Amino acid sequence: MKLPTYCSTALPAIVFLLQSLRAGAIDLLIFDPVDAYVECQPVLFSWSGALPPYDMGILGTRIETLPATNATSLTWVVDFPAGTVVRAAVRSLNTSSITFASIPALTVIAGNDSSCLSS
Ligand SMILES: *[C@@H]1O[C@H](CO)[C@@H](O)[C@H](O)[C@H]1NC(C)=O
Ligand SMILES: *[C@@H]1O[C@H](CO)[C@@H](O)[C@H](O)[C@H]1NC(C)=O
Ligand SMILES: *[C@@H]1O[C@H](CO)[C@@H](O)[C@H](O)[C@H]1NC(C)=O
Repeated sequence: MKLPTYCSTALPAIVFLLQSLRAGAIDLLIFDPVDAYVECQPVLFSWSGALPPYDMGILGTRIETLPATNATSLTWVVDFPAGTVVRAAVRSLNTSSITFASIPALTVIAGNDSSCLSS
């Protein structure tokens, strides 16, 4: 098959897609952005696509890795102080759909409770 020249800039995306299809990862992993992180309040993360199990990593004042799950959502208590920039990512650990998605960073806002913060 001869590819038209305009395809050349799209080649990395096409290669990735073909690799994904071959690996069985037809569904891309989509991580739903959260509205806000409030200090010491729970936040619900949810995602769709790819295959279970999944695990999440959260970067704030330190890195937290949340336990692997077969669910497509999980609740996390924001145990970083207000002002911390939080980045969250989810991964599919399934060998048939190893993939990764992240959501935009957000700054933790103050709540009415700081009891979850140590020291
Ligand atoms: C996910 O499901 C698989 C298959 O049922 C099971 O073996 C595995 O332990 C589960 N993983 C978690 C983290 O629950
Ligand atoms: C990958 O996902 C499939 C479909 O849900 C599941 O049957 C299989 O056990 C998973 N593989 C691993 C290594 O968890
Ligand atoms: C703190 O705020 C949360 C919502 O942000 C609310 O659900 C909770 O009842 C409040 N707690 C107190 C002690 O005011």
